[in-house]
Amino acid sequence: CGIVGFTSFNQVLPTLLKGLEKLEYRGYDSAGVYVNDGDQGDYLVKETGRVADLERATEDKNIRGTSGIAHTRWATHGGVSVENAHPHASEDGRFYLAHNGVIENYDELRDTYLQGVKLHSQTDTEVAVQLIDKFAKEENLSAVDAFKKMIALLDGNSAYAFLLMDRQEPGVMYTAKKKSPLLIGVSDQGNVVTSDAAAMLDVTHDFIELMDDEVAIVEKDKVTLFNAQGEPITRLPFHLDIDAAETDKGVYPYYMLKEVDEQAIVTRTLSQYYFDDENNIQNIDTKIIDAMKAADRLYIVAAGTSYHAGLVGKRYFEQWAKIPTEVHISSEFAYDQPMLSQKPFFIFLSQSGETADSREVLDNITKQGYPTLTIANVMNSTLTREADFALPLLAGPEIAVASTKAYTAQISVEAILAHAIGHSELDLKLELAKVAVEMQVIIDQKEDFKAIAESALSGQRSAFYIGRGLDAAVAVEAALKLKEISYIQTEGFAAGELKHGTISLIEEGTPVFALLTQAKTAGLVRGEIAQVAARGANTIVIATKELAKAGDAYILPEVNELLMPLLEVIPAQLIAYYATLDRGLDVDRPRNLAKSVTVQ
Ligand code: G6P
Repeated sequence: CGIVGFTSFNQVLPTLLKGLEKLEYRGYDSAGVYVNDGDQGDYLVKETGRVADLERATEDKNIRGTSGIAHTRWATHGGVSVENAHPHASEDGRFYLAHNGVIENYDELRDTYLQGVKLHSQTDTEVAVQLIDKFAKEENLSAVDAFKKMIALLDGNSAYAFLLMDRQEPGVMYTAKKKSPLLIGVSDQGNVVTSDAAAMLDVTHDFIELMDDEVAIVEKDKVTLFNAQGEPITRLPFHLDIDAAETDKGVYPYYMLKEVDEQAIVTRTLSQYYFDDENNIQNIDTKIIDAMKAADRLYIVAAGTSYHAGLVGKRYFEQWAKIPTEVHISSEFAYDQPMLSQKPFFIFLSQSGETADSREVLDNITKQGYPTLTIANVMNSTLTREADFALPLLAGPEIAVASTKAYTAQISVEAILAHAIGHSELDLKLELAKVAVEMQVIIDQKEDFKAIAESALSGQRSAFYIGRGLDAAVAVEAALKLKEISYIQTEGFAAGELKHGTISLIEEGTPVFALLTQAKTAGLVRGEIAQVAARGANTIVIATKELAKAGDAYILPEVNELLMPLLEVIPAQLIAYYATLDRGLDVDRPRNLAKSVTVQ
């Protein structure tokens, strides 16, 4: 979920709505806004659907006010409905609360404190706002004290970013966070609170970071911070040097297409950023290299597409850095930690740097005292701040829910890092530059993939991607791309495993995409392609020039075999894109998903 708040000298509604649009990547099943106009009254509007639906709902209401809070939701507790949308109001309409996170003990709090209070939603957040109201009323506490008292009752495992307004004090926002990001932006026009700086760049580039267990009171011309002990503290804002225009779609119909197209530039930038003119590594702290060299095993921990990038990176760390490497799904590792080696080193891969599942592991590992590195696209994010070391992906803002350029940037940075630790003969800077050129070649042939997507996938309910070795690692990412946006149920499979069960799913016409870039196993994969074709599958082969045969659907340009994942994923991204367009679906915002999942 995403939160914005603004207390200003001017009208705030347009800025709040624009901010919400920028936060839609955090969830977009419903949205709401509360605006306070002092003596003239206040407004609460909530809608299911997109921010655009909320915007329409506000249009005829003549909403005015110089302070307000807003929220875009990704449902956790309680289904998608107007009642469950945020901000939540207390019974008598005094307090308004927007929340991101999960209150683990909300059932217990409701039963203990709120007997007799009628709740209107199924959310944990409504329990929180009713508690604040109750404490303010019954114990005659000030808003901030009632807010603090509610927070003190939350289970230690709870995660939250809260933004509260009291209608009796227009212009004042109360905010607090734990495990969930929140920034306070300061400017001459007033002050903001936001889950992500990118949402408020139109107002300011100067942000104060709020830390876990702190509370802040934000007014239009003043910010007061309190530490966990309730003592006032001072913290200076940092200046964020990003261009708001980078987060625009420009001439593209969808962010996904823009981001697929940007991959060549990103890969080239990375090779220039990490190597100097003499081909020496730069911009990687030698402490990182030393810590990794001292490790006897690397543990890559990540979720979703980032996890898939880890599967590819494992190969680089083992082949070039010569360090055994395991790749783990964060949500699994968090509660079933495997037996660790003597000297483990942890790498967290993430686009957003905010994924709660990964953060849980980072917390656990930090407590155990092992060294940690986060490789993320969003620097200054929770995972980058809380790890011992951080490296940027430099992919630029990625907005489409389906991750594309972050994946290829992660693979590139893993390659660069592995190469920096080991002693391979490869001129990686040159090889990555070649990759960038060939990426552009593939991108320029996008019409080919439109044709493939339409002929192979139109009307299909399921599909497969197969390959061996690195191609198997890419196959799972290729399958995720296709299924997450087109809703075609797609499995990515190690080709040799197909015959042990899954092959029974192949029917007349079932599309099976085969990725063929690894010489060692090419003959075997050809055999597997023949096996599924014999059972009626429509096989679509994507192969390198060297391994291609007549009838293959697409011939990939050739680069170093270990770097082929960077190229072969692009056809899969574009096939997913065009298959989704063909079905008339929203490419950038597939149902039920959020780009940054800040709850476990
Ligand atoms: C969400 C997104 C995925 C992403 C995953 C991990 O589920 O929808 O696209 O791969 O989170 O996110 P991260 O920001 O940690 O890479």
